[in-house]
Amino acid sequence: MTFTKEKLSFFATFIEQNLGIVYSEINYFQLEMRLNDIMSFLGFNSPDEMYSSAVQGISGSFRELLLDAATNNETSFFRDPSAFQIILDQLIRPQIATFSSSVPYRIWSAACSNGQEPYSLAMMLSHEFGSLFPGCFEILATDFSTRVLNYAKLGRYSQLEVQRGLPIHYLLNFFSKIVGERGEDVWQLKHELQRPITFKQMNLLEKSPDSEKFNLILCRNMLIYQNVENKKYILSRITNCLHKGGYLVMGAAESLIGLSDDYDLVSFDRVVLYRKKD
Ligand SMILES: C[S@@+](CC[C@H](N)C(=O)[O-])C[C@H]1O[C@@H](n2cnc3c(N)ncnc32)[C@H](O)[C@@H]1O
Repeated sequence: MTFTKEKLSFFATFIEQNLGIVYSEINYFQLEMRLNDIMSFLGFNSPDEMYSSAVQGISGSFRELLLDAATNNETSFFRDPSAFQIILDQLIRPQIATFSSSVPYRIWSAACSNGQEPYSLAMMLSHEFGSLFPGCFEILATDFSTRVLNYAKLGRYSQLEVQRGLPIHYLLNFFSKIVGERGEDVWQLKHELQRPITFKQMNLLEKSPDSEKFNLILCRNMLIYQNVENKKYILSRITNCLHKGGYLVMGAAESLIGLSDDYDLVSFDRVVLYRKKD
């Protein structure tokens, strides 16, 4: 069923104001598909009925479904593998002797989607540092979507998901193969790797971890969907949560240029990281 441009614009504005994600008119067809799904799920009979209810106020499950449906959760294990290698070789390994359980190295994966990003870090640290992981490390993983967070917390991935970016030795060391509900192969991450990660729901436009300071923050492939004003706002909150001299990692196609003066750009091979100024 079709939504008029005016109705689509109403929902797009609501999404932008609440989550920051921008739908340009060229992507309205995508928004419409998502609205149609929500309409059937919530039992509205027509776009008019859904719109009439929305103009009275969007709250509860309607709000959650609408905002959740607007998110793009594309991710994979070790996405941009060179960034993980640089984090290990340039940021963590040279300082490993300075971390302890009382002064751990603290990492925040700020838009973690289905969990592959924080789990990639956990596997890499466990593989490299053995018994020092998790003791010397803390990992916080947050996302707006409770749907992806619930998935992430399970630590259970399909054959297709583990084939995307996960080195075979990590698969064999850190996962067990189990049988899924439809008889398919499913890979369950070992609990020792899940336990050190704290998953939390967080809308980066509304909240940041209170008064927590991190050594490293990954905010990758999330800001690209935001308008410039929101990018700056989210970055300022993230910056407040980073230690001086700490590092921010963005997605391979993202950059801080024109968005923040709080960082020095540091380039290792072809990977660009941002170091918070002292
Ligand atoms: C494309 S995924 C990126 C996942 C991972 N960082 C990566 O690079 O593979 C973007 C994630 O950002 C989350 N997101 C979008 N807007 C958000 C917001 N305002 N606050 C928190 N998370 C948000 C989405 O739910 C989605 O899971």
